[in-house]
Amino acid sequence: MIIGSKLLYFNNLPSTNTHAAFLLKNSSIAEGTIVYTNFQLAGRGQMGNRWESEDGKNLLFSIVLYPKMINPSDQFLISMTISLGICDFLKRSIPICKIKWPNDIYVNNDKIAGLLIESSIMKNRIESTIAGIGLNINQDKFLSNAPNPVSLKIIKGSKFDLTTCLSELASDLDARYKQLMEGKTYNIKEEYISQLFRLNEWHEYKDNNGHYSGRIKSISDFGMLQIEMRTGKMSEYSFKEVDFIL
Ligand code: BTN
Repeated sequence: MIIGSKLLYFNNLPSTNTHAAFLLKNSSIAEGTIVYTNFQLAGRGQMGNRWESEDGKNLLFSIVLYPKMINPSDQFLISMTISLGICDFLKRSIPICKIKWPNDIYVNNDKIAGLLIESSIMKNRIESTIAGIGLNINQDKFLSNAPNPVSLKIIKGSKFDLTTCLSELASDLDARYKQLMEGKTYNIKEEYISQLFRLNEWHEYKDNNGHYSGRIKSISDFGMLQIEMRTGKMSEYSFKEVDFIL
């Protein structure tokens, strides 16, 4: 076991990603170490957003990885790997869960988990990656202005044991990380695409040119989202270049 081989637990932290980065800088930390907390005072989301999570209700953790086998240009593979591991775990309770490109896990139109992946690249090599995961488990009410949060409890109607969830999820993530280490990148990419939210369905999107109707067809080798327009034209987007209209 790599992911989950060591668990560092903290009652509360500013942010597990920030603390994992501090540990990486100031100590030696084994690959796969999980930095876990019950509560974040300054939980970080994508694009400088905050991550809301009630004390002791959800999974909040960061995994320290040294994915030296991955070229920096292929680093989206790490996000794909982690997203698949979270879906493997969730699908046992919620078979309809999907991956919303690039880094969210959705159930119907609601967000159940988010990923914040931060890599340190030196001399064209990935030195280390911190994969931060926020997975909503037992929270009933969300107070921030996040548009569409949901939790396992809201969907399934009953409480889940956080320790059991963490250990099952760590083992699902570990199995996916092994797949990545074994070089099975084709399988990872194909599975990621097949589990995409809105794959091959016509929906509304918004880019620099305004609103349009399109359907997601695939992901490029560099992790860009490919959407076909009604005209047949294909558009390719980096993170934040396109909004999903929900
Ligand atoms: C997002 O969807 O915006 C990403 C959310 C990531 C939240 C997790 S919670 C654990 C880890 N520590 C953080 O500060 N953020 C990530």
